[in-house]
Amino acid sequence: MLHILFLFSLLFSSSHASVQDFCVANLKGPDTPAGYTCKSPAKVTVKDFVFSGLGVAGNTTNIIKAAVTPAFVGQFPGVNGLGISAARLDLAPAGVVPLHTHPGASELLFVVHGKILAGFISSANDVYLMTLKRGDIMVFPQGLLHFQINAGGSKAIAVVSFSSANPGLQILDFALFANNFPSPLVEKTTFLDDAQVKKLKAVLGGTG
Ligand SMILES: *[C@@H]1O[C@H](CO)[C@@H](O)[C@H](O)[C@H]1NC(C)=O
Repeated sequence: MLHILFLFSLLFSSSHASVQDFCVANLKGPDTPAGYTCKSPAKVTVKDFVFSGLGVAGNTTNIIKAAVTPAFVGQFPGVNGLGISAARLDLAPAGVVPLHTHPGASELLFVVHGKILAGFISSANDVYLMTLKRGDIMVFPQGLLHFQINAGGSKAIAVVSFSSANPGLQILDFALFANNFPSPLVEKTTFLDDAQVKKLKAVLGGTG
C-alpha cells in the first residue's frame, strides 16, 4: 500500500513539475539581467533556433580592419537563457581586435582560416599569447582583457562561441579615446601624455 502511495505521489509530482525546455527571447520586451522574457511558445518556430548570418564575411573596411558578426540573443533569440551564443570574426591582413573584455562570458575561438595571434592578460597581469593556425581553438576566461591580430599575409576567419547569450563587449581603446572622457582625466588615470591622448582621440573619434 505504501509503495503504491509513493508511486502515485511521484507520478503526481512529476506531472506537475514545471520544466521549461526553452525561453525564446521576446525581443520587444525588456532585456533584464536574467535575459529577455519568453516569447509565447505558440509563436515559437524553428527559425528562432537557427541563425544564418555567419556564412557571410563581415565588412573589414574600417580602422581596425576587422569585423565581428554576432549571433547573440539580440540576433538569435533561441539562445535566450541558455548561456550560449556565437559570432564570426573576420580579420583582413593587418586586422586587429583591440584589447577588450566580455564581462558576461568566457570565449572559445576556433580558427577556420589563416593565422591569428591571440592572447589574454590575467588578473595577476600574466600574459598568455599564441599564434593560432587553422583548426586551433583558444579559450579566453570570462572578464579578462584579450585581443586577436591577423598573423598571416591573407585574411583570417574564426568562429567564436560564448558562455552567455549576451556576453557584452567593452573595447579598452574605445573606452579611453572614443568618447567624451575628459582628456586631463584620461591622462591622469593612464599616465599617457596629452599629445598621445589627443592623437588617439582624433583617430578614434573622441572629444574633450
Ligand atoms: C564596407 O564599409 C565601408 C565603410 O563603412 C563602406 O564604404 C563599404 O561600402 C562597405 N562595403 C560593403 C560591401 O558593404
